[in-house]
Amino acid sequence: MTLVRLYFIKHDGNEVEVTAECGASILQIAQENGLEIEGACEGNMACSTCHVIVDKEFYDLLPEASDEEEEMLDLASGLRATSRLGCQLLVTSELDGMKLILPKESRNMIGF
Ligand code: FES
Repeated sequence: MTLVRLYFIKHDGNEVEVTAECGASILQIAQENGLEIEGACEGNMACSTCHVIVDKEFYDLLPEASDEEEEMLDLASGLRATSRLGCQLLVTSELDGMKLILPKESRNMIGF
C-alpha cells in the first residue's frame, strides 16, 4: 500500500495535511478527513459539488478530464484553469505533495 501526502487549503485559508492511499479519489479522501466538500452525486458526475482547484505544478500530471467531466465543471462556480472534479481524480504516487484548494462555493446541479 503506497501512501502519499496531500494538502487541502480550506475555505478559511488554513492548510490541512492528510495521508492518502493510492487509488482513492480526492473526494473520498477529503470526506474521510472531515473536510468541507459535498459530493452530492457520490461520484456519478451529476453535480459539481466536488469541485477542487489543483496546484498548477501538479495539474499537468493528472490524466485529462473526460468530456463529461468538462461539461460538469462548466457548471461549477469559481471555475479556474486548474479546476477538476474531486470524484474523478484518483491518487497516484506521483501526486505526493499535491495541494488542492477547496472552493468556497459549490453549485449542486442535480435536478436542474
Ligand atoms: S460528486 Fe458529483 S460530480 Fe463529483
